[in-house]
Amino acid sequence: MKQKHILLGVSASISAYKAADLTNELTKRGYAVDVLMTRNATKFITPLTLQSLSKRAVHTDVMAENQPDQINHIDLAKQADLFVVAPATANTIGKLANGIADDMVSTVAMAIRPGTPRMIAPAMNTYMYQNPVNQKNLAYLKEVGYKEIEPREAMLACGDFGRGALATVEMIVKAIETELAENDRSQD
Ligand SMILES: Cc1cc2nc3c(=O)[nH]c(=O)nc-3n(C[C@H](O)[C@H](O)[C@H](O)COP(=O)(O)O)c2cc1C
Repeated sequence: MKQKHILLGVSASISAYKAADLTNELTKRGYAVDVLMTRNATKFITPLTLQSLSKRAVHTDVMAENQPDQINHIDLAKQADLFVVAPATANTIGKLANGIADDMVSTVAMAIRPGTPRMIAPAMNTYMYQNPVNQKNLAYLKEVGYKEIEPREAMLACGDFGRGALATVEMIVKAIETELAENDRSQD
Protein backbone atom coordinates (compact mmCIF):
# COMPACT_ATOMS: atom_id res chain seq x y z
CA MET A 1 0.00 0.00 0.00
CA LYS A 2 1.20 3.52 -0.81
CA GLN A 3 2.75 5.32 2.16
CA LYS A 4 0.36 7.93 3.56
CA HIS A 5 1.47 11.52 4.04
CA ILE A 6 0.43 13.28 7.21
CA LEU A 7 0.92 17.01 7.54
CA LEU A 8 1.35 17.81 11.22
CA GLY A 9 0.99 21.49 12.13
CA VAL A 10 2.49 22.48 15.47
CA SER A 11 1.63 25.78 17.14
CA ALA A 12 2.92 27.53 20.25
CA SER A 13 1.21 25.76 23.14
CA ILE A 14 3.07 24.63 26.24
CA SER A 15 2.11 21.13 25.06
CA ALA A 16 4.12 21.53 21.82
CA TYR A 17 6.73 19.13 23.24
CA LYS A 18 4.13 16.36 22.90
CA ALA A 19 4.37 16.83 19.12
CA ALA A 20 7.68 14.97 19.42
CA ASP A 21 5.98 11.81 20.74
CA LEU A 22 3.22 12.18 18.19
CA THR A 23 5.72 12.54 15.33
CA ASN A 24 7.66 9.55 16.61
CA GLU A 25 4.59 7.36 16.96
CA LEU A 26 3.22 8.23 13.52
CA THR A 27 6.62 7.72 11.87
CA LYS A 28 7.02 4.32 13.58
CA ARG A 29 3.61 3.34 12.21
CA GLY A 30 4.91 3.92 8.69
CA TYR A 31 3.48 7.35 7.87
CA ALA A 32 5.51 10.05 6.15
CA VAL A 33 5.14 12.94 8.59
CA ASP A 34 5.81 16.42 7.26
CA VAL A 35 5.95 18.79 10.21
CA LEU A 36 4.92 22.42 9.81
CA MET A 37 5.63 24.84 12.67
CA THR A 38 4.55 28.35 13.50
CA ARG A 39 7.41 30.71 14.35
CA ASN A 40 6.30 30.79 17.97
CA ALA A 41 6.18 26.99 18.18
CA THR A 42 9.93 26.90 17.51
CA LYS A 43 10.38 28.61 20.92
CA PHE A 44 8.79 25.60 22.64
CA ILE A 45 10.39 22.75 20.67
CA THR A 46 13.15 22.81 18.09
CA PRO A 47 12.65 21.91 14.44
CA LEU A 48 15.76 19.72 14.81
CA THR A 49 13.94 17.45 17.29
CA LEU A 50 10.99 16.99 14.97
CA GLN A 51 13.24 16.59 11.94
CA SER A 52 15.24 13.87 13.69
CA LEU A 53 12.08 11.98 14.67
CA SER A 54 10.27 12.34 11.33
CA LYS A 55 13.49 11.96 9.31
CA ARG A 56 12.13 14.65 7.03
CA ALA A 57 12.62 18.40 6.67
CA VAL A 58 10.55 20.51 9.06
CA HIS A 59 8.88 23.57 7.54
CA THR A 60 8.91 26.81 9.53
CA ASP A 61 9.09 29.57 6.92
CA VAL A 62 6.70 30.15 4.03
CA MET A 63 9.37 32.14 2.18
CA ALA A 64 12.07 29.44 2.42
CA GLU A 65 11.78 28.06 -1.08
CA ASN A 66 14.56 25.52 -1.34
CA GLN A 67 13.34 23.81 -4.50
CA PRO A 68 12.99 26.26 -7.36
CA ASP A 69 10.73 23.97 -9.40
CA GLN A 70 7.94 23.96 -6.82
CA ILE A 71 6.09 26.17 -4.38
CA ASN A 72 6.55 24.49 -1.05
CA HIS A 73 3.21 25.17 0.69
CA ILE A 74 1.21 24.18 -2.39
CA ASP A 75 3.27 21.07 -2.97
CA LEU A 76 2.96 19.92 0.65
CA ALA A 77 -0.82 20.44 0.61
CA LYS A 78 -1.09 18.51 -2.68
CA GLN A 79 0.68 15.45 -1.25
CA ALA A 80 -1.31 15.35 2.00
CA ASP A 81 -3.53 12.41 2.87
CA LEU A 82 -4.46 14.17 6.12
CA PHE A 83 -3.80 17.55 7.74
CA VAL A 84 -3.78 17.81 11.53
CA VAL A 85 -2.84 20.65 13.84
CA ALA A 86 -1.69 19.31 17.23
CA PRO A 87 -1.41 21.22 19.42
CA ALA A 88 -3.61 24.01 18.06
CA THR A 89 -3.46 27.33 19.93
CA ALA A 90 -6.39 29.74 20.22
CA ASN A 91 -4.44 32.04 17.90
CA THR A 92 -3.91 29.42 15.19
CA ILE A 93 -7.53 28.25 15.45
CA GLY A 94 -8.56 31.88 14.95
CA LYS A 95 -6.34 32.19 11.90
CA LEU A 96 -7.61 28.97 10.34
CA ALA A 97 -11.21 30.01 10.90
CA ASN A 98 -10.62 33.37 9.26
CA GLY A 99 -8.45 32.47 6.29
CA ILE A 100 -5.34 34.18 7.62
CA ALA A 101 -2.25 32.65 6.04
CA ASP A 102 0.87 34.21 7.52
CA ASP A 103 2.92 31.23 8.69
CA MET A 104 3.59 27.70 7.50
CA VAL A 105 0.67 26.09 9.39
CA SER A 106 -2.01 28.60 8.36
CA THR A 107 -0.72 28.95 4.79
CA VAL A 108 -0.71 25.20 4.14
CA ALA A 109 -4.15 24.95 5.79
CA MET A 110 -5.51 27.33 3.16
CA ALA A 111 -4.04 25.23 0.34
CA ILE A 112 -5.40 21.84 1.48
CA ARG A 113 -7.50 20.29 -1.25
CA PRO A 114 -11.20 19.57 -0.87
CA GLY A 115 -11.72 16.00 0.31
CA THR A 116 -8.47 15.84 2.29
CA PRO A 117 -9.31 15.09 5.94
CA ARG A 118 -8.52 17.96 8.33
CA MET A 119 -8.26 17.71 12.07
CA ILE A 120 -7.55 20.05 14.92
CA ALA A 121 -6.44 19.23 18.46
CA PRO A 122 -6.84 22.33 20.65
CA ALA A 123 -4.67 22.84 23.72
CA MET A 124 -5.04 25.85 25.95
CA ASN A 125 -6.18 27.22 29.29
CA THR A 126 -9.82 26.36 30.11
CA TYR A 127 -10.98 29.97 29.88
CA MET A 128 -9.28 30.38 26.53
CA TYR A 129 -10.91 27.15 25.32
CA GLN A 130 -14.35 28.19 26.58
CA ASN A 131 -14.03 31.74 25.32
CA PRO A 132 -17.00 32.31 22.99
CA VAL A 133 -14.69 33.64 20.27
CA ASN A 134 -12.66 30.40 20.36
CA GLN A 135 -15.84 28.30 20.48
CA LYS A 136 -17.25 30.21 17.50
CA ASN A 137 -14.00 29.67 15.57
CA LEU A 138 -14.02 25.94 16.38
CA ALA A 139 -17.68 25.62 15.42
CA TYR A 140 -16.95 27.28 12.10
CA LEU A 141 -13.95 25.02 11.43
CA LYS A 142 -16.17 21.99 12.10
CA GLU A 143 -18.83 23.42 9.77
CA VAL A 144 -16.25 23.58 6.96
CA GLY A 145 -15.02 20.04 7.52
CA TYR A 146 -12.47 19.97 10.33
CA LYS A 147 -12.82 17.25 12.97
CA GLU A 148 -11.95 18.34 16.48
CA ILE A 149 -9.82 16.03 18.61
CA GLU A 150 -11.22 17.31 21.86
CA PRO A 151 -9.00 18.45 24.71
CA ARG A 152 -9.07 16.62 28.04
CA GLU A 153 -9.96 17.84 31.49
CA ALA A 154 -6.80 17.99 33.58
CA MET A 155 -4.67 20.10 35.87
CA LEU A 156 -3.22 22.51 33.32
CA ALA A 157 0.30 23.93 33.17
CA CYS A 158 -1.05 27.32 34.31
CA GLY A 159 -2.40 25.76 37.53
CA ASP A 160 -6.11 25.89 36.57
CA PHE A 161 -8.08 22.65 36.46
CA GLY A 162 -10.42 22.12 33.55
CA ARG A 163 -10.87 21.26 29.88
CA GLY A 164 -7.98 22.37 27.69
CA ALA A 165 -5.23 19.77 27.95
CA LEU A 166 -4.13 18.37 24.61
CA ALA A 167 -5.64 14.95 23.90
CA THR A 168 -3.15 12.18 24.60
CA VAL A 169 -0.85 10.99 21.82
CA GLU A 170 -2.77 7.67 21.81
CA MET A 171 -6.07 9.50 21.35
CA ILE A 172 -4.68 11.65 18.54
CA VAL A 173 -3.13 8.68 16.70
CA LYS A 174 -6.39 6.74 17.02
CA ALA A 175 -8.42 9.70 15.72
CA ILE A 176 -6.05 10.12 12.76
CA GLU A 177 -6.17 6.42 11.85
CA THR A 178 -9.97 6.33 12.14
CA GLU A 179 -10.22 9.36 9.89
CA LEU A 180 -7.83 7.90 7.30
CA ALA A 181 -9.74 4.60 7.27
CA GLU A 182 -13.09 6.41 6.86
CA ASN A 183 -11.66 8.46 4.03
CA ASP A 184 -10.35 5.32 2.30
CA ARG A 185 -13.78 3.68 2.61
CA SER A 186 -15.54 6.73 1.18
CA GLN A 187 -13.30 6.52 -1.89
CA ASP A 188 -13.90 2.81 -2.58
C1 LIG B 1 4.51 29.56 28.40
C2 LIG B 1 3.39 29.78 27.42
C3 LIG B 1 2.48 28.80 27.21
C4 LIG B 1 1.42 28.98 26.30
N1 LIG B 1 0.54 27.97 26.09
C5 LIG B 1 -0.49 28.17 25.25
C6 LIG B 1 -1.44 27.13 25.03
O1 LIG B 1 -1.33 26.02 25.57
N2 LIG B 1 -2.46 27.37 24.19
C7 LIG B 1 -2.63 28.57 23.56
O2 LIG B 1 -3.60 28.74 22.82
N3 LIG B 1 -1.72 29.58 23.73
C8 LIG B 1 -0.69 29.39 24.55
N4 LIG B 1 0.24 30.39 24.72
C9 LIG B 1 0.07 31.64 23.98
C10 LIG B 1 0.56 31.46 22.54
O3 LIG B 1 1.91 31.02 22.53
C11 LIG B 1 0.43 32.80 21.78
O4 LIG B 1 -0.95 33.12 21.62
C12 LIG B 1 1.09 32.73 20.44
O5 LIG B 1 0.94 33.98 19.79
C13 LIG B 1 0.54 31.63 19.54
O6 LIG B 1 1.29 31.57 18.36
P1 LIG B 1 0.97 30.57 17.18
O7 LIG B 1 -0.49 30.28 17.18
O8 LIG B 1 1.40 31.33 15.97
O9 LIG B 1 1.81 29.37 17.35
C14 LIG B 1 1.32 30.21 25.59
C15 LIG B 1 2.28 31.20 25.79
C16 LIG B 1 3.30 30.99 26.69
C17 LIG B 1 4.31 32.08 26.89
